[in-house]
Formats: sequence, structure tokens, C-alpha cells
Amino acid sequence: MDFSMLEAVKVEIDEGIAWVTMNRPDKRNAMSPQMHNEMIEVLRYLATAPEAKLLVLTGAGNSWSAGQDIKQFFRDLDDKPAEKYNMLLASHEWRWNQLSRFPKPTIAMVNGYCFGAAFTPLVACDFAIAADDAPFGLSEINWGILPAGLVSKVMLDSVSYRNAKFYALTGRPFDGRKAAEMGLIDFSVPAESLREETKKLAQELLAKNPQTYRSIKEALNHLRGMSADQANDYLKAKEAEMRFMDREQGRAQGMKQFLDDKTYRPGLGHYKRDAE
Ligand code: COA
Repeated sequence: MDFSMLEAVKVEIDEGIAWVTMNRPDKRNAMSPQMHNEMIEVLRYLATAPEAKLLVLTGAGNSWSAGQDIKQFFRDLDDKPAEKYNMLLASHEWRWNQLSRFPKPTIAMVNGYCFGAAFTPLVACDFAIAADDAPFGLSEINWGILPAGLVSKVMLDSVSYRNAKFYALTGRPFDGRKAAEMGLIDFSVPAESLREETKKLAQELLAKNPQTYRSIKEALNHLRGMSADQANDYLKAKEAEMRFMDREQGRAQGMKQFLDDKTYRPGLGHYKRDAE
């Protein structure tokens, strides 16, 4: 794919990490129809591109994303039902369908403003790390619109009922530290170490067996709505599928390292016998 053709999205691939940047810094990376369309193409390509083994989603300048573009996504499309319909599909497609099912590890690296519709890709990523002072907010209540496009749902699925209601109904902003405390993100770090910490997590994930990672991710995506019996059966079937799909034979290798070679204790990380 020729990334130089993109305008609202920037892509750089370095050492297996695809850095995907929402790229409208003058508009605080508000999501325009063009950004939605470009993102669909980028994620479709990266999902199978062998040079990209992990995806980091971030924003240009001082913002992650200020949510939907209030002019281009809302007001300009109010009297254009066909375009609006297609744009709702496009927006949902990458922010949720493609990202939450992305077949490789995904990290949201929240470098600045994260508002409204940006919560959907935030939660769709497997991990989310923010700058301590990154401002978050569900400002929809102040615009006379609903936190739709799954925003209310992903908030309820991530934080407590009390916190979801408090922030959706007041529209009060909060920072990266508070987002971590609520469980909306994994952790926050000082802005100057955000990229370094993201890279550290990325390298940890790149060392995992890709098929095992993918199977566990798919299972976690689907298990919540299942009964215990359904979950039990699904996990048995998933395990069989994983062993069939795993080209690296991660299960056999892991057991050999633990039981025969005694070179690895998963619970302790890399285990050095001679240290004992
Ligand atoms: N939609 C459309 N344009 C947006 C936007 C959005 N969601 N967020 C920011 N912009 C535009 C501004 O209109 C402005 O454009 P202009 O230079 O043509 O006037 C530009 O981005 C810079 O925004 P500005 O408000 O001047 O920057 P700031 O750094 O002072 O504040 C925010 C940044 C994110 C706090 C502020 O822009 C804001 O509150 N945006 C709305 C966020 C929101 O409520 N999103 C949810 C939408 S449902």
C-alpha cells in the first residue's frame, strides 16, 4: 500500500511496529469522513501485511482525537441521509469491527485530547496507555447528542456503572491518571516517556506466540456474553483450533522448555537455573 497517498492518516512501520497516526493536528485529529475511509484501507492492509506485527494507534500533535468532526460528520451530513448512512457504517467499521478483531496486538497510545467518539477505538485496542495529563471527556451531553457509536457501551463495559454515569451525564473532563484509576486504560505515564513505555510493552507482546495471542484475544472478545456451559464448550473448540493453527507449536515448545529442558518458568519470566 502506498502510504504517501494518505492525508488524514499517517503510517510508519519500524521493527515490526506499525505506528498509525490520526493526522489532522490542526483540527485536534477530529475524525472526518476522509479519516474514516483512509483508516478502513490502512487497517485492511496492515491486518495481513507481514512487515507489521503489532499496531500502535496514536494522534499527531497535542491530541489523540477530539472525537467525530462536529462539522464534517454531523452538521454537513444532516441533510444528506445517504451519505450519513454510509459514513456511520465507515466510522463503525474501523473504530470497532476492524480494530477490536484486529488479528495482531493493538495498543492505543493516548498522547493528548481523547473525546467522545475516540473512546470507541480506545477500548477496541487490546491495551491503552496515556500521558498522565492527557484530557479525556464525554462531552456529548454539552452538544445535545448521545454518546452513541458504541461510546456509552464501551464506557459501561470498561469502568464502573457509577463512573460511566458520572462522566457521561456531567461531561466533566478527567486526566490520564484518573482514566487508569477507573480502568478505562491500563496505565498512564509522564508524557515524555509515553513512546518509550509503549515500545517496551510492544516488545513484550512481540515476543509472544502470535497464534496463541490471537486465540486468547478472540476468546476474551466473545466469552463475556456466554453462559458457563457455552464458554466451556467454546474454549475446548478454540483450544483445538489453536493447536491446529499454531505453526510454531508453542504449546509443545513451552512444555518442553518447562518439563524437559527446565529453562523456563512462565510464572517467573525467563528462569536461570544457575541462579539458584
Ligand atoms: N470537530 C470539529 N472540529 C474540531 C473538533 C471537533 N470535534 N475539535 C477541535 N476542532 C477544531 C476547532 O474547531 C478548531 O478549528 P479552527 O482552527 O478552524 O477554529 C481546531 O480544531 C482547534 O481547536 P481549538 O478548540 O482551537 O483547540 P484547543 O486546543 O484550544 O482545544 C479541544 C482542544 C479538543 C479541547 C477543543 O477543540 C474541543 O473541546 N473540541 C471538541 C471536543 C468534543 O467535544 N468532541 C466530541 C465530539 S462528539
